[in-house]
Amino acid sequence: MTPDILLPERIENEEQLDEVMTRPRPILIEFMKTLESPLLILGAGGKMGPTLAILARRAAVAAGTDIDVIAVSRFSDPSARAVLEKHGVRTQSADLLDRDSVKELPDARNVLYLVGLKFGTAENPAPTWAINTLVPANICERFPRSRIVALSTGNVYPLAKVTGPGSREGDPLTPLGEYANAAVARERIFGYFAQKNRTPVILLRLSYAVDLRYGVLVDVTQKVLAEQPIDLTMGYFNCIWQGDANEMIIRSLALADPSIVSLNLTGPRCRLRDVAERIGEMAKKPVRFEGQEADTALLSDTTLMEQRLGRPATDLESVLRWTVHWLQHNGRLLGKPTHFEVRDGRY
Ligand SMILES: NC(=O)c1ccc[n+]([C@@H]2O[C@H](COP(=O)([O-])OP(=O)(O)OC[C@H]3O[C@@H](n4cnc5c(N)ncnc54)[C@H](OP(=O)(O)O)[C@@H]3O)[C@@H](O)[C@H]2O)c1
Repeated sequence: MTPDILLPERIENEEQLDEVMTRPRPILIEFMKTLESPLLILGAGGKMGPTLAILARRAAVAAGTDIDVIAVSRFSDPSARAVLEKHGVRTQSADLLDRDSVKELPDARNVLYLVGLKFGTAENPAPTWAINTLVPANICERFPRSRIVALSTGNVYPLAKVTGPGSREGDPLTPLGEYANAAVARERIFGYFAQKNRTPVILLRLSYAVDLRYGVLVDVTQKVLAEQPIDLTMGYFNCIWQGDANEMIIRSLALADPSIVSLNLTGPRCRLRDVAERIGEMAKKPVRFEGQEADTALLSDTTLMEQRLGRPATDLESVLRWTVHWLQHNGRLLGKPTHFEVRDGRY
């Protein structure tokens, strides 16, 4: 697909990275004209929230609408809050486990729900279950008549045969491990309230958003650059440029429905061996492998997403080139590995 935004050859610094990642495409600018103010983004202080909120705000300004974008989080990382405010996004600090704080949230017709907890679940599962079940219940009770786009994960599926199309939205949600099962619970809580209150909800089962500061491509590139062997067992994955994922998350508001829809959200399937070899070529590094490709992997079929939202605009080759350049020039990293190799569901 030809992107309707010119992609740079390289990304040199965080300012440029955020500029590229939050530059709205015409399709999003048009969509913003259909929204009422404010747009509430919950769990906005994490890896995706800041770029998502800034994209929404830039699209609203470009559309000439006066949509307030309000980012809500505990803001454990205060720098996220500062970045948001610098870009005209309003922020509100709240612990969404606390029902009194939830009552204080402003009314909003449109809500994007990003709250989640994954890493650390294996050692201490209780907070993961609490965040993934109690917070959705609090939010659904507070916003029974709002359209809600709720982020879920491709981890809700069990591993799929690599010879098949990948997991589809109607497949049984029988994954391994407490994180993934808590993510299934998150979906079911949204489903319960959608049924009970006729709340329009869409669940987006995202697999691997990639940024230059974190993500599966950063993890693989780091190994290639360090000349460490790449374990091929989890031999395939899907990933999507975070800017494209953010855009699709916002546009999914149009798909929210009381009969609760779920949609896989990711990019085309990648073979780990091919990706690592391409990174090796770009970085002029030899690539070593270990292990054998298993006959299953965490894979999503994106047919439905492509029908509803189109294909992601940013191609893998550009993202690989940016990632290699970023790491070779010591670009800032979040230090949050994806652990994409995990096959037993223990995160
Ligand atoms: N990034 C990916 O590749 C990916 C892949 C699959 C699925 N997802 C899903 O997409 C969503 C967004 O992804 P992400 O990578 O941005 O996740 P993330 O980095 O974990 O961000 C979620 C944020 O939610 C906030 N939060 C957690 N508990 C909260 C509470 N009690 N009250 C208020 N805020 C709370 C936290 O920020 P504060 O500390 O500021 O509160 C946290 O950083 C997640 O739900 C995840 O399941 C992401």
